[in-house]
Amino acid sequence: MIQNLKFSVLFMISVGILLLFIVKTHAYTYNNAYNKSEDDLYISPNIEYFMFPDGTKLIRFYRPMNDTGCNEPNLHLKLLHENGTLSTFNVQDFSVPTFNYCRLNRSNILSPDYIKISNLVRNINLFYIFYYNISDITPTAPFGRFVLEVNSEGNILSNNWLGPASYHNYNIIGREGKFKYIYDSYYYFQLIDIYDPKIISWQKFSLTPNGNLYKQENEYGIMRRDHLADLQFFSNPVFSFQTIDNGIGFIYSRNYSTATNLQPSLYVYANFYSPDMNEFTDPFIVYTTNVQDMILTNVICVPDTLGIGYKCILQLQKTTLPNSSHSFLLISFRSSGSIDTLETLGSSNADLAVRTNLYYGGYLLLYKSKNTLQNSCKISGNIYDNNNLFNSTFDSIILPNPCVIIDNYIDDRIEMISNISSTNFILSSFDLPKFINDGEYIYHYTDIYITLYIFFNPSFFSV
Ligand SMILES: *[C@@H]1O[C@H](CO)[C@@H](O)[C@H](O)[C@H]1NC(C)=O
Ligand SMILES: *[C@@H]1O[C@H](CO)[C@@H](O)[C@H](O)[C@H]1NC(C)=O
Ligand SMILES: *[C@@H]1O[C@H](CO)[C@@H](O)[C@H](O)[C@H]1NC(C)=O
Ligand SMILES: *[C@@H]1O[C@H](CO)[C@@H](O)[C@H](O)[C@H]1NC(C)=O
Ligand SMILES: *[C@@H]1O[C@H](CO)[C@@H](O)[C@H](O)[C@H]1NC(C)=O
Ligand SMILES: *[C@@H]1O[C@H](CO)[C@@H](O)[C@H](O)[C@H]1NC(C)=O
Ligand SMILES: *[C@@H]1O[C@H](CO)[C@@H](O)[C@H](O)[C@H]1NC(C)=O
Ligand SMILES: *[C@@H]1O[C@H](CO)[C@@H](O)[C@H](O)[C@H]1NC(C)=O
Ligand SMILES: *[C@@H]1O[C@H](CO)[C@@H](O)[C@H](O)[C@H]1NC(C)=O
Repeated sequence: MIQNLKFSVLFMISVGILLLFIVKTHAYTYNNAYNKSEDDLYISPNIEYFMFPDGTKLIRFYRPMNDTGCNEPNLHLKLLHENGTLSTFNVQDFSVPTFNYCRLNRSNILSPDYIKISNLVRNINLFYIFYYNISDITPTAPFGRFVLEVNSEGNILSNNWLGPASYHNYNIIGREGKFKYIYDSYYYFQLIDIYDPKIISWQKFSLTPNGNLYKQENEYGIMRRDHLADLQFFSNPVFSFQTIDNGIGFIYSRNYSTATNLQPSLYVYANFYSPDMNEFTDPFIVYTTNVQDMILTNVICVPDTLGIGYKCILQLQKTTLPNSSHSFLLISFRSSGSIDTLETLGSSNADLAVRTNLYYGGYLLLYKSKNTLQNSCKISGNIYDNNNLFNSTFDSIILPNPCVIIDNYIDDRIEMISNISSTNFILSSFDLPKFINDGEYIYHYTDIYITLYIFFNPSFFSV
């Protein structure tokens, strides 16, 4: 583990790797270069990047095969060690139909394939591989999605059926299901009919005392959300989030073409669904505006650290100004419907913003924008102290596709893959300022972990 600068410098001299140390006033960066094989041509967008509790990180690469629209049928998994080396990670007896390695958009080399890897935002020695048991010979034969639980030694511990999917026009169709953590269990939510966003099925999974995921055979149900996907507002997206108690939360909007004194042009609502009770709570209004042609384009909510409510960033845009920047609002509310605070975070050309508490007090507003010149994203941000006062900027950085970010919760750093070539890549680490003493460690690891996770996987909470 590169714990301190002295060791880093020693490391740089002894193995001759590139290491830059840029001291900023309040945040600084280490750049660490890793050699890779040319067979590991691209870094896969299809893994929710994470770190194992021992500090190693799992990276998935891929190499497209010429003219087939598919990648080499190999997971290309590597473990990234803290001493700067990569080792091959083999999943024992892993064999899935080769169709899974075909890209969603076959003519786009950067498009993801059908295999998905996640640790379900759990800080554990386990991770999950999602795949389809589609037949390579008869793709039209009935098939569906499975999830494998794999440990950090590469052993498959379980294989669970998640639900059916279908094949059409050389593609697997069906909007992807998602696991949501509710209270102490994981629920797999999935659309029953991909053409009907109103009806969603769920299946409950629980954890054994050792933390292994298993299916609760008789606990499944149907969530009808007709009122969320009202026909008149059909095109307005529904955003979901994880709650503190037994349910999932939803944020959705209704927009009207004319605003009057009694009728705002945009309403933003929140409500909650509990699978165990099969019930929605009554929706309540979290925000309204009279500004014409405003729509809600994105929402990211996390439970607040005190565990009494939620902090959401609402992102709004004026439809009549196609290139207008987004306005970002921070809203705190309780499940009861009472609004604690509403703050304007200003507007920005960013496509997405998140707010996360830092490891040692203060918070970070992080912005992500598209970089039009290439397949990449631009990250920038501002750091605030415990008194909500601006402290410093988070230096802006351009990340190559697929824009990998990892919460290094062992060293209290945020890490990003900042450069990729055919033979190496660079992992940049960001240290963050401390606003409280080490002794008064109040950081909740899940807070920054989940926030960064959503930031880089914005569809994580969508159903
Ligand atoms: C990476 O490759 C370069 C050039 O081949 C070599 O000098 C260096 O020692 C390698 N670094 C590591 C960590 O293997
Ligand atoms: C694809 O084609 C290029 C050029 O024709 C060749 O250099 C490369 O090795 C081929 N890749 C594979 C995976 O066959
Ligand atoms: C780096 O760490 C791994 C895992 O601990 C070890 O197998 C490997 O030999 C180490 N490599 C170097 C160059 O220290
Ligand atoms: C697939 O990728 C190609 C090449 O990038 C692009 O031109 C095309 O529009 C994409 N198709 C879809 C359906 O997104
Ligand atoms: C996929 O698995 C399901 C459930 O086990 C089974 O009914 C189906 O026949 C399998 N399909 C293929 C193509 O193997
Ligand atoms: C409401 O917003 C959607 C986009 O989310 C837009 O397509 C629709 O035209 C808007 N409706 C009205 C009445 O402004
Ligand atoms: C919006 O931006 C795009 C790309 O920068 C540009 O081509 C287009 O003309 C702009 N449209 C307006 C209405 O400014
Ligand atoms: C920012 O925070 C650091 C660490 O607490 C502190 O030393 C510094 O004075 C602060 N700077 C500003 C401008 O508030
Ligand atoms: C990363 O790539 C950019 C251009 O793509 C280059 O300007 C920068 O120097 C590179 N950084 C490192 C540390 O190699």
